[in-house]
Amino acid sequence: MCGIVGILGKSAAAPRILESLKRLEYRGYDSAGIATLDGGELTRCRAPGKLENLSAKLGQTPLAGNSGIGHTRWATHGEPTEANAHPHMTDRIAIVHNGIIENFRSLKAELLDTGTKFEGETDTEVVAHLLTRYLSEGLAPKDAFHKTLGRLEGAFALCVLIKGEQNMMFGAREGSPLVVGLGDGENYLGSDAMALASLSNRLIYLEEGDWAQLSREAVQVYDAAGKAVTRPITISQVAATMVDKGNHRHFMQKEIFEQPTVVAQALGRYLDPNKGKVRLPDMPFELATVPKITLVACGTSYYAALVARYWIEKIARVPVDVDIASEYRYRDPVYVDGGLALFISQSGETADTLAALRHAKAAGQHIGVLVNVMGSTMAREADVILPIHAGPEIGVASTKAFTCQLSVLAAFAINLAAAKGQINDEQEDAYVSELETAPKLMAQVLHHDEKLQDIARSIAHARDVLFVGRGIHFPIAMEGALKLKEISYIHAEGYAAGELKHGPIALIDENVPVIGIAPNDDLIDKTVSNLQEIMARQGKVILLSDNAESEAEGMFARFEMPTAGELVAPIIYAIPVQLLAYYAAVEKGTDVDQPRNLAKSVTVE
Ligand code: AGP
Repeated sequence: MCGIVGILGKSAAAPRILESLKRLEYRGYDSAGIATLDGGELTRCRAPGKLENLSAKLGQTPLAGNSGIGHTRWATHGEPTEANAHPHMTDRIAIVHNGIIENFRSLKAELLDTGTKFEGETDTEVVAHLLTRYLSEGLAPKDAFHKTLGRLEGAFALCVLIKGEQNMMFGAREGSPLVVGLGDGENYLGSDAMALASLSNRLIYLEEGDWAQLSREAVQVYDAAGKAVTRPITISQVAATMVDKGNHRHFMQKEIFEQPTVVAQALGRYLDPNKGKVRLPDMPFELATVPKITLVACGTSYYAALVARYWIEKIARVPVDVDIASEYRYRDPVYVDGGLALFISQSGETADTLAALRHAKAAGQHIGVLVNVMGSTMAREADVILPIHAGPEIGVASTKAFTCQLSVLAAFAINLAAAKGQINDEQEDAYVSELETAPKLMAQVLHHDEKLQDIARSIAHARDVLFVGRGIHFPIAMEGALKLKEISYIHAEGYAAGELKHGPIALIDENVPVIGIAPNDDLIDKTVSNLQEIMARQGKVILLSDNAESEAEGMFARFEMPTAGELVAPIIYAIPVQLLAYYAAVEKGTDVDQPRNLAKSVTVE
């Protein structure tokens, strides 16, 4: 996902923008650029690759001026070259954009017909020339900007400077988030609170269709029709200091190791251990009357949803559908009146999940969201918000957000079961007590990470790796495979252990490590026999288990897990699969925090 920063400041804008763009690196990008207004003239500097390339160029040719816009680009249209990097400029304006202009081809054809020359191949350049045309026709900047917005279809967040207008900046959002930051004699625009963390914590979240005109003294927000509107000012909780690695080598490592702390904090917001009760936020509907739950998400958040289905159906006896967000609305789902659709999203901005949310909302479902970003679009469109309280997650690979999602979903399942009368006070107390053990058990696993580091080295150069589990640990196997794929680039698959013999076992030979997730539950014997089928074919089985009897002859390696209750076990078994992926990636030397081709939050469908 691209990153946007705009500053109308009282000091040189370029270095401040560069600093803020660094806070957006976690979103993933492959080029960057800055433009400033100096003496009414627009100047620009762009570079492919990482921000240090841009920083080096700025060191050679600094940009003067106290007004500026900057951008980190995750390529959608056009290669990640300097010519395609933002800001895009004409002789009148500079613009940065996050999202996709879906009708850019027809607009480009219209502009080409009038003799417009294009330097790159991006959809953003079309917006730049359209706005320039309206300005050249004599429209005032505000009217020209509003008219341009009216021609665009698709998802976009835009930030614009206009030549000769030192005290003016425009921003707009339609499908991609954009936030106004309020300063003292300065004002800002940014993709999110993180981007503005070092500039301001007083934020105005633009809503769908909103656009804004900023000066150093004032901010005016307008709705899509051009009517002046007032949006609330919120105080961001993202302090500038929260976004650093501490003494860790990577953000991902820090976030893996802070899980006992953040999961304890998340549970503290939902569990009342003194009363043995779960407390959920107030809902504008009776949870006890909900006949069906739908869980929708992408990627790691989708695997959290798959785990939650086991908890909800087993404890609360409420039917659950789980859907991949990008598939959900295209299967034309059958809705049950009064159903609750829960959308799980760390960022709260994932386009596929947001589109699914809007589909379910239009169908009259109750809408709940589990998000890590309270100001996010999903949070603002839901009937009820279940925050996961993981703190800013910078690593592209989701770790602490995943275990916090699981913790909150487990609490939700317990509360739903109590509301439905499926469990009594004593049973609820027992579940709460078990959930309370998660942080301690996670810490026990983390305490022995050196053993997992050794195992990771042994799989780091494999061509294929399989993860297998049964029951509620099948989704954990899939999550383990995703983690390994996305940060070490090793091909990996997660399978239900009982499914291997129906085809995938043909993949097995002495070169294929198989990670067996086998807690000492009622499925352990079946899981171990599946693993023995693999060993009989020279597969390299690596066992994650707390069951001493499962020490089968010929296993390649074994990691001793702490004994965990069945409810809390999936949360605990997420830790070793995260560490295996992390250490394998470190061994391979990949970019752990910003893996190739990936973005932290995918705001394009
Ligand atoms: C997880 O490690 C990935 N980074 C990715 O699958 C992520 O979980 C997915 O894109 C969903 O993001 P969200 O939770 O912000 O919606």
